[in-house]
Amino acid sequence: MNVYDAARMADVLATVDYEPTEDQDSADLIILNTCHIREKAAEKVYSELGRVRRRHANLGNDGDSHTEQTPLIAVAGCVAQAEGDEILRRAPYVDLVFGPQSYHRLPELLTKAQNRRPASRLHAAPDEAILTEFPVESKFDHLPPPRSQGASAFLTVQEGCDKFCSFCVVPYTRGAEFSRPAEDVLADACRLVETGAREVTLLGQNVNAYHGAVGGLAALIRRLAEVEGLDRIRYTTSHPRDMDTSLIRAHAEVPELMPYLHLPIQSGSDKVLDRMNRRHTADDYIKIIDRLRDAVPDIALSSDFIVGHPGETEADFEATLSLVRHVGYAQAYSFKYSPRPGTPAADASDQVPEQVKSDRLEKLQVLLNKHQQRFNQKTVGKTVSVLFDRDGKREHQLVGRSPYMQAVHADCGGAMQTEALRGSIADIEIVSAHANSLGGKLLTPTVSEAVTVMTESAGA
Ligand code: 5AD
Ligand code: SF4
Repeated sequence: MNVYDAARMADVLATVDYEPTEDQDSADLIILNTCHIREKAAEKVYSELGRVRRRHANLGNDGDSHTEQTPLIAVAGCVAQAEGDEILRRAPYVDLVFGPQSYHRLPELLTKAQNRRPASRLHAAPDEAILTEFPVESKFDHLPPPRSQGASAFLTVQEGCDKFCSFCVVPYTRGAEFSRPAEDVLADACRLVETGAREVTLLGQNVNAYHGAVGGLAALIRRLAEVEGLDRIRYTTSHPRDMDTSLIRAHAEVPELMPYLHLPIQSGSDKVLDRMNRRHTADDYIKIIDRLRDAVPDIALSSDFIVGHPGETEADFEATLSLVRHVGYAQAYSFKYSPRPGTPAADASDQVPEQVKSDRLEKLQVLLNKHQQRFNQKTVGKTVSVLFDRDGKREHQLVGRSPYMQAVHADCGGAMQTEALRGSIADIEIVSAHANSLGGKLLTPTVSEAVTVMTESAGA
């Protein structure tokens, strides 16, 4: 979601002649787009702000009072939303703090921030520099059409969450559930395809609760599948409670919908699931998985897990391990429970000691990694379609994703071939499996280097 938001901020800023740069020293504006989901992510903001400040002090500016050359410094995203005042207290040189619902107003906010200079931020009234209310208008109605994100693009269709899991800040930082109208999503998808996208990943904190089309997310996916040139559709992240029959049927019937699903369960223990306010049991989840596998036998599954939620005993943790063994994930994300201020679990008296959390996480990750390797190994010798969306580290190497979300590296032979394959989908024979990726071989070169070179020479 933050990658998508950053791309949209760049779209907005392009309307007032800003362009992204790789060179921080030449930047006129630095935006830190932040995540508040766990403490570690949130704390990174302050260390990064310190680095930015020191860097520009080294460039000859004094840090507290701005000169013309000091870039504007903005903090965006969910840390900005949750800790606006705290940011300005700990980093008074920050020019602007704005939440995820306000970035459509960036041009106007930047002009105001610019006008406040060269006064020191120490003297700025904090409320001038902070914009974290939830506006009545939707930012989506005020954003310019999306610019290219390459062959694989993100597209937000839903934001916010009404589920209020005990541990989670999202309902507070992103606000109540909101779905974009299907027509707007379709228009953005067509635009992304025009700018080179072959795959779109529909985003939402609770994406399968999407209600911007009659028939929900399944209906939206069916309409998107009709878009000429859009070959692959994915969506993330889903809640088990909203995994309805129509969506499972869409997996079976819509070829563009990739055979991969990220469906977090968080814990395998019913007691912990209840404490987490997840409103489903482990058995409910397994029944959904069974139905998905009936619909799409080769579907690759992914999940999120939290270890050490308040009240989690060794037996509860064992239940998580046994659920993992039962389901057999293709990949998964796992975290130590991190108390977040303002969430109910943070106030619970039965917090799990840090060392116990660490030990459990390690144990879980060993098991999840084993499953991931096994899943990757099973792909060796098979031919899979790969959408090549980025360059590899080696010359003439491209990297893309299999339908099952595995990263696939393939050597394309030569410059012509690499050029032809970049941004397109090709059949690749998988020849090796590693912990986090696969090695592939082109089945039939789509461009013969020799023939192309000869033709070009003849033409010249
Ligand atoms: N501590 C640890 N992990 C968390 N997540 C959300 N909140 C917390 C927290 N307080 C994890 C969940 C969620 C993923 C995006 O982050 O597993 O699905
Ligand atoms: Fe957070 Fe997901 Fe629970 Fe919503 S459903 S509160 S986003 S963990």
